[in-house]
Amino acid sequence: MLDGASMKGGAVDGSAWSGHRGLPGTDLESALVGVYSARCRGGDGSGMGRILPADRTRFYGYGRQALTEALRLAGVKEGDEVLLPGFLCGEVLASLAVLGTVPRFYSVDERLRADVASWDREVFGSIRAVVMVNYFGFPQFLGPVQAWCRAHGATLIEDNAHGFLSEDGEVPLGRRGDLGVFSLRKTLALPNGAALVDNRVNNKMDPDGFSYGGSCRLAEWRYRSKVVLKRLIEWGGLKSALVILACIRMARLAATGHAIPVSSSRREITMLQEACSSLTPQLLRRCDYVAECQRRRTLYQLCLDLFDGAPDVRPLFDHLPDGVVPQGFPFLYAGKDRRSLIKTWGQRGVPILSWPDHLPAAIHLHAPDHYGRVMFVPFLW
Ligand SMILES: Cc1ncc(COP(=O)(O)O)c(C=O)c1O
Repeated sequence: MLDGASMKGGAVDGSAWSGHRGLPGTDLESALVGVYSARCRGGDGSGMGRILPADRTRFYGYGRQALTEALRLAGVKEGDEVLLPGFLCGEVLASLAVLGTVPRFYSVDERLRADVASWDREVFGSIRAVVMVNYFGFPQFLGPVQAWCRAHGATLIEDNAHGFLSEDGEVPLGRRGDLGVFSLRKTLALPNGAALVDNRVNNKMDPDGFSYGGSCRLAEWRYRSKVVLKRLIEWGGLKSALVILACIRMARLAATGHAIPVSSSRREITMLQEACSSLTPQLLRRCDYVAECQRRRTLYQLCLDLFDGAPDVRPLFDHLPDGVVPQGFPFLYAGKDRRSLIKTWGQRGVPILSWPDHLPAAIHLHAPDHYGRVMFVPFLW
C-alpha cells in the first residue's frame, strides 16, 4: 500500500518495498499525482500583483536572462566583481559571462546559509552586486547582507528563482532585495517564464527595456504536449504517471542516447536566446495561487512524514514556517547509493533529483562535501 505509514522510514535498497505495490486513493497518492498533473488553472491570478507589480516587473523566458538584466540595472559593467554563492547551478554563470563580469564565490553551510560576517576577512574588494539565493523557496536571512551591501555600496539581488509565492513574514520573497529574480517556470507549469522586479524606492521598470528574442515554439510545443500527458495522469493516477515517464525516458534514450536531458558543455558562458512565451502571462492570470500554495505546502508536510526516519536522509529544513511555499523537499543524503535511492522512491511515484546538476566548474573541485549531497523531491513535473 502506498501510504505514509508503509513508506515511512523505508530502506532505500528496495527490499522494504516488496509487497507495497498497491496504489489506493490515499492523500499521499493524490498529492503525488498533483506533482505530475499540476497546471495553471481554476483561478483568476489574484494575488500576483503583490509579488510582481505591473509597474516594477519585466518578464523573460528564463531566470538567467532576468539575472543578467538585474546586473545591468545594478550598473554592473565588464570587469566588475559580483559576489554569489558557489552552491549554484553552472547555468547561472552565463548571466555574468555575457556581461564580462567576474564571479566571486562565497560559501554556504549545511543549512545553505551564508556566513556574511566572514566576508570582510576574505579578499572581496570592489563588489558591485551580491546575489543571495532563497534555495528551494526557503528565505535567506537578509539582515546581515543588507547591512554589508549598504556598507560596501553594492546592490543586493535576491535570487528567488525557486520561491515564487513564498513569503518571509508578510513580505513576498523576491521583494526584499534591491532587485528580485524569479524563474516562474520552476514552480508553475508554463512553457517558459521568469521575472525581474525592481524593488528600489522611486524606481519603476522601463517598459521599453531590453527583452530577449528567439523562438519559443519548441518550449510551447513541449508545454502543450505535457498538458495532454498531465490530463491523462489526472485521469489514470500515479501508475499512469510512471508509465508515461518511463516511455519518455525510453524515447529520449533512443533519440539522444541519454535517458535524462544533458546540459550543454557551454552552459556557463552561453545565454539562452528564447523569448518569453505569449502563453505565459495568460497562464499566470489563470492560476489559482491559493490552491497552488496549499498544494506545495501539503506536499512538504507529507514528505516530512514520508522521509521521517528514512536512512541517510536529513531534511534541510525540518519544519515549514508559515508563508513558506517550497519548490520541493530538499534533504542531505548521507548514503552512498544515490541511484538506488532515486530508483526505489521513483518506482513509488516519489521523484528525487540531485541539485544542482552541475556546480560551477570553478567550485567543483574544492566544493565542501555537503554541496554534493543535496537532493530534493521536486513538486512540479
Ligand atoms: C538559484 C537559481 N537562480 C537562477 C536560475 C536560472 O533560472 P533559469 O533556469 O530559469 O534560467 C537557476 C536555475 O538554473 C537557479 O537554480
